[in-house]
Amino acid sequence: MWGGRFAEGPSAIMREINASIPFDKALWRQDIAASKAHVAMLGAQNIVSADDAKTITDGLDAVAAEYERDGVPEDWDLEDIHMTTEGRLAELIGPVAGRLHTARSRNDQVATDFRLWVRETIDQTDAGLEALQRALVIQAGNHADSIMPGFTHLQTAQPVTLGHHLMAYYEMIRRDRSRLADARVRMNESPLGSAALAGTGFPIDRDATSAALGFDRPTANSLDAVSDRDFALDYLMAASQISLHLSRLAEEFIIWASQPFGFVRMADSLSTGSSIMPQKKNPDAAELVRGHAGRIIGACTSLMITMKGLPLAYSKDMQDDKPPVFEAASLLALSIAAMTGMVADSTFKTDRMRQAAELGYATATDLADWLVTEADIPFREAHHITGAAVKLAESKGVALDELSIEELQAIDSRVDKRVYSALSVEASVAARASYGGTAPDQVRSQVAQARAALDIEG
Ligand code: ARG
Repeated sequence: MWGGRFAEGPSAIMREINASIPFDKALWRQDIAASKAHVAMLGAQNIVSADDAKTITDGLDAVAAEYERDGVPEDWDLEDIHMTTEGRLAELIGPVAGRLHTARSRNDQVATDFRLWVRETIDQTDAGLEALQRALVIQAGNHADSIMPGFTHLQTAQPVTLGHHLMAYYEMIRRDRSRLADARVRMNESPLGSAALAGTGFPIDRDATSAALGFDRPTANSLDAVSDRDFALDYLMAASQISLHLSRLAEEFIIWASQPFGFVRMADSLSTGSSIMPQKKNPDAAELVRGHAGRIIGACTSLMITMKGLPLAYSKDMQDDKPPVFEAASLLALSIAAMTGMVADSTFKTDRMRQAAELGYATATDLADWLVTEADIPFREAHHITGAAVKLAESKGVALDELSIEELQAIDSRVDKRVYSALSVEASVAARASYGGTAPDQVRSQVAQARAALDIEG
């Protein structure tokens, strides 16, 4: 009845389905740290003797040294990292190892370890994002004057500067970092001492373990502490948002690197060749960043669905919280590093971008704005007159500023020669000097502020 490959029947199935050691061994450093904090507190509170506390602490250090040297052994009978460590501790120091688990359960243990792991990951993610911001700000500073077409609907809309475009991503990443910071503040409470679900009768000192592990305070409700995983979801939601932003930047590079655009030459180090087409240089890294966003969002969805409808307190379903978080964290770290390299090492083909900005009547709005400012024409009417000018230029296959003054005056007599000064792409970007606009001076001031925020010298 129980399927051929399980020679030993149900017990073998049970061992395999129950074991989390294949993945939760990634928590070993956090597990050792939390156990050391716990036993130090048990000693200080006289719940175990000072001698035993010392023996256990030294034993934990010995186990950690073994893990560091040889890796964590995977024995399904020991289920998870907590039992694996305690089992090895008992082999090394004997029955006194059994005192470590006083006033503690694997339920508060895993909640504590996992919070510590997610907290570290938040800090690493933040550092990665800061490096990406630096790369963006430096390129934006180099290209505050580089003119490119700005798009809406991926149709040429108005000229913008490349610096302005890159600084848009700087802003997205700035908000992403603040999301991570919010998540970190909220999650930084210690579940340790919540025990299985109800707390413990031992005279423990939760403030001590909380402080020892760098938490701001102990969690206030033991049922909540062992059964919620919103700290992991906060991280995954922030990670999903970050991956969305990275996927958009990646998509820009993919489009810009294509031959019809030719706006950017990506570094060889982040591209691959084709095995059959010798001329190809493929933006694989960017495509994978775009693809990884799907898996990161999938990880977030996976944990949300795991948690949905679970009654309080701990249920074993929650063991499945870790793989999606681990997967998302490693995909995200790679994606951030790839995009940082792409931004830093790409060569932007500014001539080609400027040329593209000249096409597509990108300065049509400037003509309309000129009619409003200089000829006192209501904007809607100016829009109409400009439409007629674009139509004429299009039918002649010329740019707006290649129409003669006679041709323009035939459309509306209020146009005069001064209009040509408004029709160049340089004039167009320079005019957009409103706060946050694309004018090179605006971009330079955005870049200066960002450099100050990131402590970039010079
Ligand atoms: N390996 C378990 C997990 O990751 C640890 C907690 C087990 N607790 C229990 N009561 N079975 O969720």
